[in-house]
Amino acid sequence: MALTQMKHLNLNLKKNERIGVDYIKGILQPTPTCDIWDEIWNFQAKPDDLLISTYPKAGTTWIQEIVDMIQNDGNIEKCKRAPTHLRFAFIELKIPSLPSGVDKANAMPSPRKLKTHLPIQLLPPSFLEKGCKIIYVARNVKDNLVSYYHFQKMNAALPDPGTWEEYFEDFLNGKVCWGSWYDHVKGWWEAKDKYPILYLFYEDMKENPKHEIQKIMEFMGKNLDEDALDKIIYHTSFDIMKKNPMANYTTIPGEIMDHSVSLFMRKGTVGDWKNYFTVAQNERFNEIYKEKMADTTLPFSIDD
Ligand code: A3P
Repeated sequence: MALTQMKHLNLNLKKNERIGVDYIKGILQPTPTCDIWDEIWNFQAKPDDLLISTYPKAGTTWIQEIVDMIQNDGNIEKCKRAPTHLRFAFIELKIPSLPSGVDKANAMPSPRKLKTHLPIQLLPPSFLEKGCKIIYVARNVKDNLVSYYHFQKMNAALPDPGTWEEYFEDFLNGKVCWGSWYDHVKGWWEAKDKYPILYLFYEDMKENPKHEIQKIMEFMGKNLDEDALDKIIYHTSFDIMKKNPMANYTTIPGEIMDHSVSLFMRKGTVGDWKNYFTVAQNERFNEIYKEKMADTTLPFSIDD
């Protein structure tokens, strides 16, 4: 069923054309999302919804796979029932002529698994009012930038990133979809002290997946045995997810995601930014980083 649905996934764009963008309260978003913004803002969460929130390219898909595996007690076959984007409703996503993320969520049985990239101030208020559990993942800004650049190159549902130099400036100025990385990670960091938010870091997941998966398990109120835990660690490792068509986005038609330009499961490493930043770019970036992060206790090391 899932794969037949895929055939209708179409942005109706001409060759090399990209989706348009517009602003919602100062944050850049794909135009179809802006067109249904009231519907998104008024989304009604349920207390047992589990929301995964990230700035784009921080490791969303990875956490989604982990969460689904935990919910299914480490049963790999159950997690291969459908591609990631059908197992989780992406709240603010709208592809013209297809049901919106909100429609998908409304049609899902509880407990629902949802995804968002929205900065905290744009999160539909009902998530916080209903006390939903939220897992937030943050990633080193430099790797996040590099990953986002490659993703925009291969994804017609986002603007063409332009050259590396142009994209570098746009990212620094928050002129990318879902806005400024700095405001995003800081906003959610502050919110975690007031709401049930588990705040994770991509780099910790890479360093000690077992430890971080255990944290997620505990947060979800699950207690799986070592055997299930080992299966989850293995099945959600980069190399295995890269080969899994239900987790690697290769079921999305090539007119939208062109994996010949860049794979969705691209590298999955820490420190890839060193292959892209020039020395001058890095120095400037570090200066700006210091200024923008002066008012937060967020513990990031950006030189790794
Ligand atoms: P790279 O482009 O650096 O390789 P998102 O899911 O938020 O779009 O994030 C995608 C990024 O997470 C990509 O980063 C992708 O390779 C990486 N990723 C996906 N699954 C992963 C896994 N199991 N382990 C490590 N990184 C993973």
